[in-house]
Amino acid sequence: MKDFKSDFPIFKNNPWLVFLDNAASVQKPSYVIEGIKHFLENDYANIHRGAYSLSERSEILFEDAKKVIKEFISAKYSSEINFTYNSTYAMNLLTLSLKRSGKLKKWDKVLVSIVEHHANIVPWLILKEEIWIEIDYIWVKDDFSLDLDDLKHKLTKDVKVVSLTYASNVTGQVFDLKNASKIIKEYNKNILFVVDWSQAVPNFQVNVAELDCDFMIITWHKIMAETGIWVLYGKKELLKELSSWIGGWWAINWVRKQEYMEAWLPHRFEPWTPNIVWALSFLRALEYIKSIWWYKTIEDNEKELIVYVLGKYSKFEDKVNIVWSKIATNRIGVFTFEIPGINSSDVAEYMAQNNICVRAGQHCTEPLMEFCNLKSTFRMSLYLYNTKEDIDKFFEILGNFLKEKNK
Ligand SMILES: Cc1ncc(COP(=O)(O)O)c(C=O)c1O
Repeated sequence: MKDFKSDFPIFKNNPWLVFLDNAASVQKPSYVIEGIKHFLENDYANIHRGAYSLSERSEILFEDAKKVIKEFISAKYSSEINFTYNSTYAMNLLTLSLKRSGKLKKWDKVLVSIVEHHANIVPWLILKEEIWIEIDYIWVKDDFSLDLDDLKHKLTKDVKVVSLTYASNVTGQVFDLKNASKIIKEYNKNILFVVDWSQAVPNFQVNVAELDCDFMIITWHKIMAETGIWVLYGKKELLKELSSWIGGWWAINWVRKQEYMEAWLPHRFEPWTPNIVWALSFLRALEYIKSIWWYKTIEDNEKELIVYVLGKYSKFEDKVNIVWSKIATNRIGVFTFEIPGINSSDVAEYMAQNNICVRAGQHCTEPLMEFCNLKSTFRMSLYLYNTKEDIDKFFEILGNFLKEKNK
């Protein structure tokens, strides 16, 4: 395994750091950091309608980012790519725009899975409160894979949307969305299939044409770009039918004192000054991934580490419970644990005292925690720069913690 740590200044500046909180956000390589600095020092200005060269340069870069994302996810048009602030914002923009456009009405049903992040639950619950739609949950099997039979069973004529994550931020399980998509579209091609790619974007690419999803939310800070700008992808013919729930200076064709006309695509869903610096950071992050042989390197590293974690965990099986399958395939490097009778924040604090960064709590998945009958868990999640030594350290400190607690 190649050691990528030297590409990331955070590790040089914090030599003892064992960073295992990558499901929340990943560290940035110097290639991205230097790119941001260079852009701010040389090319930065607000975009749209600035006739001067700085503004034009920034605008070209911003539009380039859309073209690159279009290619990256195999979308048909750049206008299908809408920048937003984060995944949660993207999902709310979608749900509220569906409501505003009359695409969802009283008693229409939305299906989500039981493992979803709150970002893919609460926006639908807001619509439940506002217009009385119904929400139902698709179960997972014992190995935490999506129960496709349950999906089939729950597809009824009232279902208008199925919204699913590609990978769970708790179990690490990757859902079989290709088959889920087939099942949904064969039942009724007008059901909107929404995919939350936020947690899996660091791990594998998605081809939206092949997947035949109608909308997808994507987050880039998990693949080394800056925080603060995300994407709502939508099929052009569907986006055209949606009236944006949010409006402002750029997303209009004209404004009078008492009325306005919404802009055409691609600006309808971006009424603000966008995060231009982020667009640059995304381009740099992708260039960095290309420079290390693209996703294959990330996947190969991760597969090796996943097998390593499973081996190490086997020695803790009698003391520490898990919320994931022990099978190494169809998963990303996200592992969530529970020690019966112990508050997970105590474990996370103990880890922190030993320079290990993990996350404790319910991970914005309270319905899943209730389903698994769990109150408090801690999560270790991997990325490109993690090594077997990082994992050794995690289990060594976990062992020390258990000893101190006489567990
Ligand atoms: C599966 C999943 N969906 C959505 C989100 C929310 O992302 P954001 O913080 O960008 O709104 C997360 C955050 O970790 C996530 O893991």
